[in-house]
Amino acid sequence: MSDKKDHGLAKGLTNYGDRDFSLYLRRSFASSMGYSKEFLSKKIVGIAYTPSGFNNCHRHFPEMLEAVKRGVLAAGALPVEFPTISLGEVFLNPTSLKFRNLMSMDTEEMIRAQPMDAVVLMGGCDKTVPAQLMGAVSADLPAVQIVAGPMMTSRHGEGRLGACTDCRRYWGKYRAGEIDTEEINKVEMRLATTAGTCAVMGTASTMACIAEAMGMSLPGTAAIPAVHADRLRAAEASGAAAVQLIESSIRPSHVITRESVENALRVLLALGGSTNAIVHLTAIAGRAGINIPLSWLNELSETTPVLVNLKPVGSHYMEDFFYAGGLGAVLRELKPLLNLDCITVTGDTLGERLEGPFEAVDRNVIASAQAPLEPKGGLVALFGSLAPRGAILKRSAADSSLFEKEGRAVVFNSLEDLATRIDDPDLDVSADDFLVLQNAGPTSPSGMPEAGYLPIPRKLSSQGVKDMVRISDARMSGTAFGTIVLHVAPEAAQAGPLALVRTGDRIRLSVEQKSIDLLVDEEELDRRRETYTSSARDVAGLRGYDKLYAEQVLQADEGCDFEFMKPVKIG
Ligand code: FES
Repeated sequence: MSDKKDHGLAKGLTNYGDRDFSLYLRRSFASSMGYSKEFLSKKIVGIAYTPSGFNNCHRHFPEMLEAVKRGVLAAGALPVEFPTISLGEVFLNPTSLKFRNLMSMDTEEMIRAQPMDAVVLMGGCDKTVPAQLMGAVSADLPAVQIVAGPMMTSRHGEGRLGACTDCRRYWGKYRAGEIDTEEINKVEMRLATTAGTCAVMGTASTMACIAEAMGMSLPGTAAIPAVHADRLRAAEASGAAAVQLIESSIRPSHVITRESVENALRVLLALGGSTNAIVHLTAIAGRAGINIPLSWLNELSETTPVLVNLKPVGSHYMEDFFYAGGLGAVLRELKPLLNLDCITVTGDTLGERLEGPFEAVDRNVIASAQAPLEPKGGLVALFGSLAPRGAILKRSAADSSLFEKEGRAVVFNSLEDLATRIDDPDLDVSADDFLVLQNAGPTSPSGMPEAGYLPIPRKLSSQGVKDMVRISDARMSGTAFGTIVLHVAPEAAQAGPLALVRTGDRIRLSVEQKSIDLLVDEEELDRRRETYTSSARDVAGLRGYDKLYAEQVLQADEGCDFEFMKPVKIG
């Protein structure tokens, strides 16, 4: 009566103290869903499925799911989707980052607890891809990621619109009085018009490229537009690939290695990708026991050119990137810098992938390594007395005339303080000052939101000031741009030096030296330390996940994961 093979429905039985009874009962209940005995004896591919009424980016997932299932069935296994938490970036309070770890735990435990032999991870919106990869690494069952794909652009007047770089561009115009309420209302309805993730090289697209570069997604799938028929074909192929993974036994721990993480860092730098991606990649690698010191990012940044001319750094959109050659074209340019022996979910190495014939590349969108957009990588880590454990600057999205600069700090001690005073006509601020935001890091009440893109004070934006040096322990949307120093660690709420800055202090930024220093003498800083009070949340008054997060979240340079989610070292 019993099928004792440890696959499919027979995996991980519910414990009733009688194995055969457990299997009999499970089959009986599975039969109630209309499956034949033949199908219930097959190997099972679980599909981590994340549609949500609160996630516009995943609104085409029902159609994609059908394609994934088709691929699994055609390859001879049984597809079974299961829901996990979905994170729609703009629908979450206080910020989606807070729930990334929760989604990763949900994903990991549902992969482990339910009977499946491999899993397809359907994600897309910013935090969903890192959350699924973190969970898959920890569960270490054969896994392949298929992403939502980017939105198509829209139009406004003669120009193209793509979420969300153009969201910010038009909001900046509105704040500066360049457009009126009627026009911003029109733009609001035109920014995001199709399914899919933000249309630029923001966090979602960067993470999609990183997943492909590491070998966790099928080649050529990161950039396919959400609504393109190729996306459905990619979903079908991902379902089939998951079945092959059962046979090959390639697991995330084989794919996500120090070498493939280095490849991903190279790709991040060449894309001029999102600053969030360094936090997420650190967390994903951390689940595999791989540490990413920010000094490693800097070493790679010195020798990795920026190749991709996409917003928010450049001028094109993700659909242009797809038609220009996509990530494959970038990987070919980077080939001499990459670790080519890394295994991918196809069973091929990265080197084998890059041996194939390729179509012509549109050099307006993807530059060659011989004629890059920038000779050095798009991100750089800064260290110094203001950020002993580091901070991040997306130099490819910044105004290089501000790279070597000393300025007077204008300090806001919270997001509320910023909102109250930034547009005050009496605010004492000039374009040469450095705007400083404190208490917006991981353990602050705001939970490290994408607030590092501090608005230019209205009195300056109305005079045409477009960029200033802005410094915080917050994050920045991958679709934003400017001379913005982020992820300052330790954060202000953990007594980092950022907490000690006062309006009028001098700060020196040097991108050349990779430094950020607070020019205040130690005795004065010691005096300030005596009156320091942390803004970190008082965990005594918290409960549930809120409490867990407040107690356990790590700093930005550690990926904002939880310490207890890292692999256990035996011995
Ligand atoms: Fe989902 Fe931008 S809101 S990717």
